[in-house]
Amino acid sequence: MAVREAWGSRFGFIMATAGFAVGLGNIWRFPYMTGMNGGGAFLLVYLLIVAVIGVPLMMIEVGLGRKAQLSPIAGMATLLGSRTNPWNVIPWMGMTAAVAINAYYVMLIGWIVGYFVMALSGDLNSMPADQLQVAFTTFTTTPGPLVFYTLLSLGVMTLIISRGLGIGLERLARVAMPMLFVLMIVLAIQSMTLPGAKEGLAWFLTPDFSRINATMVLAALGQAFFSLGVGMAAGFAFGGYMHPRESDVPGNIAIVVACDTGVAILAGLVIFPALFAFNIAPDAGPGLLFVTMPQLFGQMPGGVFFGVAFFFLLLLAGITSAIAIFEVIVASLMDGYGVSRAKASLTAGGMWAVLSTLVILGEGPWSGVRAWGLTLFGLIDAVTTNFLLPAGGLALVLYTVVVWKFDGFRDDVNVGAGRLRITGLLRPAVLILIPIAVGLVLLTSLGLIR
Ligand code: ALA
Repeated sequence: MAVREAWGSRFGFIMATAGFAVGLGNIWRFPYMTGMNGGGAFLLVYLLIVAVIGVPLMMIEVGLGRKAQLSPIAGMATLLGSRTNPWNVIPWMGMTAAVAINAYYVMLIGWIVGYFVMALSGDLNSMPADQLQVAFTTFTTTPGPLVFYTLLSLGVMTLIISRGLGIGLERLARVAMPMLFVLMIVLAIQSMTLPGAKEGLAWFLTPDFSRINATMVLAALGQAFFSLGVGMAAGFAFGGYMHPRESDVPGNIAIVVACDTGVAILAGLVIFPALFAFNIAPDAGPGLLFVTMPQLFGQMPGGVFFGVAFFFLLLLAGITSAIAIFEVIVASLMDGYGVSRAKASLTAGGMWAVLSTLVILGEGPWSGVRAWGLTLFGLIDAVTTNFLLPAGGLALVLYTVVVWKFDGFRDDVNVGAGRLRITGLLRPAVLILIPIAVGLVLLTSLGLIR
């Protein structure tokens, strides 16, 4: 039997997991969700959910993977000692969410490649505001170039993943993540010094409590799970590559969550001051990033350079996230069906080639085909963030309450931990607060509570 792959170092795990968590969710999705849900109040609810619900759920997911030392499906069956135990549904739900999310995530990567190419040409930054919106709509609804960029990126990812996790993921994330962070700081400073920026900053940072309602909490929870990657089975898969005793689950997760949250807040600090300075409506939706950033670059000395660098690093951040999801599926095919890494990679890549093409067509020529008024892209996003990820989170915490038990979870996750350890303080959160809160959110999402 081949020796099981493992993280090269603690830094390797952190960078790869941060590479997974930090992605388009932080820089593309977080600002537009904040924009649609009232600014500061959304930020506050989001931060609370990350700290109180997201972090414990991540520790459960990664802790389970580390305990199993296997990929999600095979690992869960091993932990349960049976393939037919109903709790085996947990990794299947995670995998379903992972497959669905990547179906549109690779299209988003195609969007970014397109914007990178436009930024290179230098035309992007000089476009007037109304043309930027038109350019965005035209680009995202015209299949030709977008299918090409998407499938090209998917091909590159398939190649990377087929060569193994260590080579593919760790190295890319190690370089891209710190560079992106520094660039975002520079962009945030530039954005905050624009005339009229203060108003946007206040809108992003000052909570208007009247905006808090069930729909907004659901949106914040979905965003937190999407961004941290809770309920996508990826945490389990990544935990599976950790050393069973000499790795620090709470400490590493704290760093990853800090990076993920830091980048999301930075993205807000880049987008909202600029948005208000340029008079763009905050609730512009998924195109928000793509109409705001070129205007910001247009105002900056060296704007073409910054535009190219931004879309390039954003592309890398997106790729490291998509590759992590890819890895979940590939590892499961390898462990569960004894398939080679190359074959598993090709199978998964082929599946997403078909799915992402359908998603792209659903935005363009087939946009008339809708369910509940949503295109395929909108539908996948709504079903995953409003239902599958919260349901996966609920299943994880219920498993901990019923099977693992709080003491078992605490003792297992604390193995190898440094100063930051799970204590009894977390008991009420895991046993009561998280199951009730996520359960209520899920019922709201299903329309059972209004
Ligand atoms: N966690 C990944 C992101 O935020 C999927 O983009």
